[in-house]
Amino acid sequence: MKIIGIETSCDETAISVIEATGDIQKPNFKILSHLIASQITLHAEWGGVVPSLAKREHTKNILPLLQQSLIETNLEKKVERTLTQAEISELEQIFIHEPGLVEEFTNFVAKIGKPEVEAIAVTIGPGLEPALWVGINLARALSLIWQIPVMPINHMEGHIVSTLLTNQKSITFPAIALLISGGHTELVLMADWFDYKVVGQTRDDAVGEAFDKVARLLGLPYPGGPEIAKLAETASGDPNLTLPRPMLNSPNLDFSFSGLKTAVLYKVKDRELSLAEKANLAREFQEAVTEVIIKKTFKALDQYQAKTLMVGGGVIANQKIRQAIEQKIDIENSDIKFLFPNKELSTDNATMIAMAGFLHLISPSNSELNPPFSANGNLSLNATK
Ligand code: KG4
Ligand code: ZN
Repeated sequence: MKIIGIETSCDETAISVIEATGDIQKPNFKILSHLIASQITLHAEWGGVVPSLAKREHTKNILPLLQQSLIETNLEKKVERTLTQAEISELEQIFIHEPGLVEEFTNFVAKIGKPEVEAIAVTIGPGLEPALWVGINLARALSLIWQIPVMPINHMEGHIVSTLLTNQKSITFPAIALLISGGHTELVLMADWFDYKVVGQTRDDAVGEAFDKVARLLGLPYPGGPEIAKLAETASGDPNLTLPRPMLNSPNLDFSFSGLKTAVLYKVKDRELSLAEKANLAREFQEAVTEVIIKKTFKALDQYQAKTLMVGGGVIANQKIRQAIEQKIDIENSDIKFLFPNKELSTDNATMIAMAGFLHLISPSNSELNPPFSANGNLSLNATK
């Protein structure tokens, strides 16, 4: 079946169309369209994401993006369609805070007939609520006009499911999901699909956030993760430089990264660092982060006797972290299955949202189509079941 995914939780407006087959044990996904309008350069000027700007950009980009995806998948049907007064009244309710969108949307659906798509999946949280509403309202409006169901999706579940696209391995439960992004750092125990328990998380900064903040201290642009990784590659190494590994030996599965960032701040404060010194700091920072992540993740795998490790989120685009996990599994001769997304699906996208929508749609426990939902900036995976 074909599913449209919509993602607007942060600074990427994303629309995807996927074709999904199979069952929950062996789902099969094909990307038909994978579009992202990134706002990175806009927010880079402010050093981070500005919610009101994010909302404005999503509103501006989302319909043109949807149109483009329907055109490139040949799902667009040019038909004249006039909306009824009842439909227009309902649209006015949906876009009550964005009255300008009623006309834009009416023009859009008047030109584009109902495509052969079975469902829409949309991110409802966690994220920036004003930004989330843009995607949610579009999903609602499309569902109303095209009469197809909407699947509300937790963004973090999308990151978990993103690991399934390129992977041929079947998942053995219990599994551990490590989610490392700009907004989150979580270890999640999965007894089964949709049965999630957050067993560890950061007490302050998310790991991607730490990459971004340290990059800023080193004078590198946002987003900092790829910049730090690139700079670290050029480092010669400095045996006298050590940064802390916060909570490395704490008896729980929690993380903390703000102290690490502060430690970097003290190294750069009131001094002009050479490029070589910056590179060494970037490398040591990356190593400190990697060590903590590895230790806590394998502690969780051990504690819960997990058979599968799924790692999602922007930070798994980091090759050093990925290789360190692979090496550890190799060295320990462990039969743990390690699943991670390709680079395209590591950072925020709508394909992973559509994929999660498919799993929910075909799940036997999915009793309700079009359940009531709203944006929830703090949505937790614990509440997904
Ligand atoms: O998942 P994502 O796109 O957005 C959130 O949901 O937060 O993750 C973005 C984060 C940013 O903090 C970015 O710096 C980080 O992922 N990131 C990386 C790399 N590529 C992106 N961090 C470390 N190494 C990378 N290669
Ligand atoms: Zn994300």
